[in-house]
Amino acid sequence: MNLSERDRQSVWHPFTQHLTAKNNIAIVRGEDAVLYDDFGNQYIDAVSSWWTNLFGHSNKVIADSITNQLGILEHVIFAGFTHKPAVDLSEKLLSFLPDNQSKIFFSDNGSTAVEVALKMAIQYWHNTGSARKTIIAFRNAYHGDTFGAMSVGARGMFNQPFESFLFDVEFIDLPNADNLESVKIEFNRIVREKEVAAFIFEPLVQGSAGMLMYKAEHLDVLLTIAKKHQVLCIADEVMTGFGRTGKIFASHYLSNKPDIFCLSKGITGGFLPLGVTTCSQEIYDAYLSEDKLKTFFHGHSYTGNPIACAAANASMDLLSEAQATIADLVTWQSDLSSDVANHAKVQNFRQQGTIIAFDVITDFSSGYFNDLRDRLYTEFLNKGVLLRPLGNTVYVLPPYVINKQQLIQVYKVILEVLDTL
Ligand SMILES: Cc1ncc(COP(=O)(O)O)c(C=O)c1O
Repeated sequence: MNLSERDRQSVWHPFTQHLTAKNNIAIVRGEDAVLYDDFGNQYIDAVSSWWTNLFGHSNKVIADSITNQLGILEHVIFAGFTHKPAVDLSEKLLSFLPDNQSKIFFSDNGSTAVEVALKMAIQYWHNTGSARKTIIAFRNAYHGDTFGAMSVGARGMFNQPFESFLFDVEFIDLPNADNLESVKIEFNRIVREKEVAAFIFEPLVQGSAGMLMYKAEHLDVLLTIAKKHQVLCIADEVMTGFGRTGKIFASHYLSNKPDIFCLSKGITGGFLPLGVTTCSQEIYDAYLSEDKLKTFFHGHSYTGNPIACAAANASMDLLSEAQATIADLVTWQSDLSSDVANHAKVQNFRQQGTIIAFDVITDFSSGYFNDLRDRLYTEFLNKGVLLRPLGNTVYVLPPYVINKQQLIQVYKVILEVLDTL
């Protein structure tokens, strides 16, 4: 049996209907933007392996940092103890974040970073003796797969069996030039009528919703209202963080500073799982008390894992020197995609920083489960490019180290596949 066949015998994969799914492709090696399977096929990873990879597969700087840390300290309980990789990383993250951010809380992935943010915000109000409990979120949002994160995300096919377990959330539309006034009215109504604890959002790009993009100035209008009513603003930058949108954080395009940030994915350059939730001094201070019940009782066994922190420290060092590389990618993305943007089968072409997305015009329903999605996915793979359409939305979100030739190849393949439709 080859690896894919052995996998089928014993492994259950995420987001996979195994009855109809083909065997999973066995990847034996990765280098820069390219993945190699056990039959010797190559795939350009144009989705950065679920948006995690920034500086390429098997990046030597990050690999060396991990290797070095392995010989020093692999892990230690993070309650009552600390270590250099975590302190270094906290200082580095704070130097990148807006200056109102003051403390770093570690967890393991994007969903837990969100879960921590929600609990932090809710308990902030509890600790300060307020009845605020309502959360506002955007329709179509995706914040992760744990129960809190599912609650603040779109209700649909993915969480239907759990719907009755999810807490109530006030959902509002994503603002645009046409609906801004009505969204504003709705937001004002909710903050007036409810005890609102927090507003959570994916700044500038709703990733899983289909790379839906919206303007910083429109988000700022809502954040201004939220700030006026002391609603805590939670920026979920799990996907948009670390240069994806062109700036280190998407929130850097905003005038209002979020109170809490959720970070993960690219933080370790795509090497190891790590989640981070950051907050302002004011939030942290609400937990300082003689009363032990005001403690933030949350933690995971692998909180602040030194090896993950070592990967993140190397990744952050690379990021601080990557501005020109990111700027080049932003330019290549817009230049090289122009034929795709003008293709007869393409609509709603959009770009935010290093991310390009467009919708394929289809007679099928445009949902995640439509046949076109599967056909596109398979044809791209057959031509050596890993792209994972969200319904009829195709997006290109490559590692920053993809070279121009590889990106030209990605768009060539997209055009070839579009021409077959
Ligand atoms: C904006 C956002 N938040 C949270 C998550 C959840 O992250 P994870 O898959 O690491 O739990 C994701 C994952 O795609 C995301 O895009």
